[in-house]
Amino acid sequence: MTHTEITATADRYLMPTYARVPVSLVRGEGARLWDTENREYLDFFSGLAVTNLGHAPAAVVRAINEQAARLLHVSNLHYCAPEARLAELLCTHSFADRVFFGNSGAEANEAAIKLARRWGHLHGGQRTDIVSALGSFHGRTLATLTATGQEKVRVGFQPLPTGFRYVPYDDIAALEDALTDTTAALLLEPIQGEGGVVVPSPEYLTAARRLCDERGVLLIFDEVQVGMGRTGTLFAYEQSGVAPDIMTLAKALASGLPLGATLAREEVANCFGPGTHGSTFGGNVVAAAAAVATIETMVADGFFATVQSLATTLHEGLAAIATRSPLVAGVRGRGLIAGLVLHGPGATHVDACLTEGLLINCTAERVLRLLPPLIITNAELARGLAILEKVLCP
Ligand SMILES: Cc1ncc(COP(=O)(O)O)c(C=O)c1O
Repeated sequence: MTHTEITATADRYLMPTYARVPVSLVRGEGARLWDTENREYLDFFSGLAVTNLGHAPAAVVRAINEQAARLLHVSNLHYCAPEARLAELLCTHSFADRVFFGNSGAEANEAAIKLARRWGHLHGGQRTDIVSALGSFHGRTLATLTATGQEKVRVGFQPLPTGFRYVPYDDIAALEDALTDTTAALLLEPIQGEGGVVVPSPEYLTAARRLCDERGVLLIFDEVQVGMGRTGTLFAYEQSGVAPDIMTLAKALASGLPLGATLAREEVANCFGPGTHGSTFGGNVVAAAAAVATIETMVADGFFATVQSLATTLHEGLAAIATRSPLVAGVRGRGLIAGLVLHGPGATHVDACLTEGLLINCTAERVLRLLPPLIITNAELARGLAILEKVLCP
């Protein structure tokens, strides 16, 4: 199909839930993508924080092919090795003791919310409320859009589930007031992604952990966007000095195949029993094989040292652009998630980057979000920074 045929057919038959960029992609390799016209793009977007190992990473493609040739699906009423191995890898590389697998970030958070409610139910029944942060994003199911701290995602979907409350992000005093004896869990992104790449003050997550402990509240970290190496460690919470009770992952977990995970400490995880939660496709054997290969690649010696060095180059380059550009108000982020905060709307600059062959996106209207793959080369990083400089320093 040509680009014109693809867009005409998609616009005719797909529900209009996305404002799409007029590019039809056909192929990718590492940090580069090609469209139907064979035009090359440098990828500073990673399919929205999904292709953290770049496009077509050899070890992941091999694992997918081998598994697909053997078995595409195993029901959750039977055992299979990739799912077991993946759960073991996630637990041995995190605070967690057990994992539940779904298919997406929203499902991972839905499971986390259900697990927290179930924990409240089994501990006196008073604790039902979920407290989350304004500006957060947790998904599009009814429960997760209710937990999302952005009014715009809820418009038209009432009546919504009850038992959700919001606090301003990075505000410790607000947490002091909000966590009560009816609170089951505090749900936070360690860095807000969709909210505009907002990094909280270093003491915020520590205070959240302390208050949750003092008040008997579970702490859930949503690492759907900032987990899986994005911030320079396998999980973002590792850099905060505190661990959650529950953590959610998706996006980059299986390098592009649909997979979500809800990780928890033993005592919390065991509040789920047979029949309390489930998903036909959750932990799919091919997706699990892809995720095993993804994690094994990331935990190999030297991987994160390289990511951290790339991150230093990225942030130095962005800081230099910020000092030179009259359009840029500041730079935020950690590791290979960065936000260039603009004085005005960012959409036209996203288009200008596209014209120059660089894929980026804009979130929270004024924040150009940069998510290069963790395997990007220094030369590609420099090329992307040069394009950003050209677009933002007229
Ligand atoms: C932090 C966070 N949580 C949850 C989600 C929802 O993930 P999914 O689109 O896979 O349902 C997203 C998606 O952008 C996200 O950024």
